[in-house]
Amino acid sequence: MRRFLVTGGAGYVGSHLVRALRARGDHCTVFDNLSTGHREAVPDGVDLVEADLADQAAVNALLADGPWDGVFHFAALSLVGDSMRNPQLYRTANVSNAAGLIDACVRHGVTKLVFSSTAALFGVPERLPIAEDDRIEPGSPYGESKLMVERLLAAADRAHGLRFAALRYFNAAGADPDGALGEDHRPETHLIPLAIDAVLGRRPPLAVFGTDYPTPDGTCIRDYVHVSDLASAHLAAFDRLDAGSVTYNLGSETGHSVREVLASVARVAGRPVPHTLADRRPGDPAALVASSARIRAECGWRARFTVLDDIVATAWAWRLAHPSGYDS
Ligand code: UFG
Repeated sequence: MRRFLVTGGAGYVGSHLVRALRARGDHCTVFDNLSTGHREAVPDGVDLVEADLADQAAVNALLADGPWDGVFHFAALSLVGDSMRNPQLYRTANVSNAAGLIDACVRHGVTKLVFSSTAALFGVPERLPIAEDDRIEPGSPYGESKLMVERLLAAADRAHGLRFAALRYFNAAGADPDGALGEDHRPETHLIPLAIDAVLGRRPPLAVFGTDYPTPDGTCIRDYVHVSDLASAHLAAFDRLDAGSVTYNLGSETGHSVREVLASVARVAGRPVPHTLADRRPGDPAALVASSARIRAECGWRARFTVLDDIVATAWAWRLAHPSGYDS
């Protein structure tokens, strides 16, 4: 049985990865301060170390207690707008903490690390779909913070042979199809859960941020990739590390506008999404769509969820079963 440390394993994407690891018989220890993660998202049989990554003593004590087959590093702050207002938080939580984790990995002989990176490091892309080597120019401290960690990892690989996978998520969406896990951010800022709650009358009508973008219907286009597909991509990328470090863009490779997402939620729910038209949200690029050709070619990974309605249906099912998220 292999043994993995998953930082942020009580969070949205991290918890889906833990489920995927367990499904293949691996042992997981989750390291999470539960600031945005949920105790209820950590299944029985998985050790939960409730601590902050800034606590270097806790990180080092855990990694010293090896051997570990690898580390999956999710724990981070992830809101673009929040990072514009509070860049120092992102420097500490995302960069300093990751640097400490990388140092601890090197110190304690951990040789493989999979890192949650982001499409936000491309800023306003020069072309679509976005390939890994396209221009990188983060427009936010959040994107900057993830880029810095990618660079720290590259340096640790050169100096110490730490193998890493930098996985740049586009828009993580949906919920575990078996219904055990789902999206529960507090506050929630993401389009699909907000649209679902607007349909259910649990929140005000959804504000569509911007209708004058240079896109066919004037609203922003994003690449929604199912969270379970992200999880399987982590497993595929980890298995590839014996051949060297990798960087992959992870998306469904299909763009959908905000209006198309609202239409999808309406189809799944069987009623329209109450919404208003609002100004643009600062920092939102018009369109982000991934090319995941590299991970397809190198790892044989493919998104299983290729139809937006199917992704939305899993989010809808989760919300109906958990109207108050993990508190339900
Ligand atoms: N949107 C609305 N109204 C809302 C919320 C969102 O119109 O109430 C729009 C946004 O303007 C955007 C789209 O819906 O065009 C998706 O917005 P999200 O907030 O769901 O996601 P983002 O694209 O802003 O960001 C997500 C992650 C980031 C990551 C980025 C990479 O939250 O961490 O995808 O693509 F960097």
